Amino acid sequence: MLKPEIEDGQASLADPQFRADVLAGLERRPRAIPARWFYDRRGSELFEQITDLPEYYPTRTETSILAQIATELARQVPPHAALVEFGSGSSTKTPLVIDAIAPSAYVPIDISGEFLRDSSRVLSTAYPDLLVLPFEADFTRPLALPRTIADAPKLGFFPGSTIGNLIPLAAVDLLRAMRASLGQGAQLLIGMDRIKDKDVLERAYDDAAGVTAAFNMNLIGRINRELDGTIPEDAFRHRAIWNDDRARIEMHLEATRDVSFTVEGRDFSIASGETIHTENSHKYGARDARILLRAGGWTPVAEWTDPDGLFAVYLAEAQEPRPAP
Ligand code: AVI
Repeated sequence: MLKPEIEDGQASLADPQFRADVLAGLERRPRAIPARWFYDRRGSELFEQITDLPEYYPTRTETSILAQIATELARQVPPHAALVEFGSGSSTKTPLVIDAIAPSAYVPIDISGEFLRDSSRVLSTAYPDLLVLPFEADFTRPLALPRTIADAPKLGFFPGSTIGNLIPLAAVDLLRAMRASLGQGAQLLIGMDRIKDKDVLERAYDDAAGVTAAFNMNLIGRINRELDGTIPEDAFRHRAIWNDDRARIEMHLEATRDVSFTVEGRDFSIASGETIHTENSHKYGARDARILLRAGGWTPVAEWTDPDGLFAVYLAEAQEPRPAP
């Protein structure tokens, strides 16, 4: 994933986009760095740990919903569909869908070839007869899918409430890009986290064991490691705050004292109490979720939740647009 580069005679392992996003993000007010940069190897390991935390309900809740809707999914999804997963498949959720619909092909799409190869290997071993077609690409833009699946009905899969990590404008753009990639008549199975009690939400993003804090703080470690940063980790703390107006959990790194440091030789000073905004996780009520899907060109056809209404899974269709009155 990281491309070595030569700069001023020195080898640097930093991804140029990471460097650009970090420098611009530290310069900007309010300071903000895109959440995609959490996921280096350490960050990905920490995220895996998060999904098992008692406070982090989304993963186990979505998994239990998917396990329970297998028969219904089999009824709603045409036979021999190609399953197209946006992001590398998790070893627990993807098999639930494969077992339910017995797809003719599985196409995982990810920008990181490394994660793609890992997940494809796991799936190919578990399903030796399944045609697995890993596709290294940026799925936020419309894509030409492999020709092998051209004639198959398509089921897009976007679990985990990852859509919530985008601001609504970008979420709609992504849904529209998925529609363009999959084509009219395709279906989309998507997970969305629900709005709920503020304390439950804040605890899910600030767990007692400190794993989410380590996940957030790892961004500082990554900047120091890859961008020659001198950010003192002990000058920052993890914050997870429910923003009710925007219906989202925000993660921030808050300076606990006035601090000065350099990144790639550039000087920065952050005052005590100031934050670097590192992630948004939007939550959607039932109507909000349906409006979001429609705005992205997807008509919801089925909706499933857990008994406590913590999380929702939607099946939506890319229907022919109807003329508006
Ligand atoms: C990947 N994404 C859906 C997670 C979420 O819940 O927004 C990322 C995460 N951040 C902190 N905990 C989990």
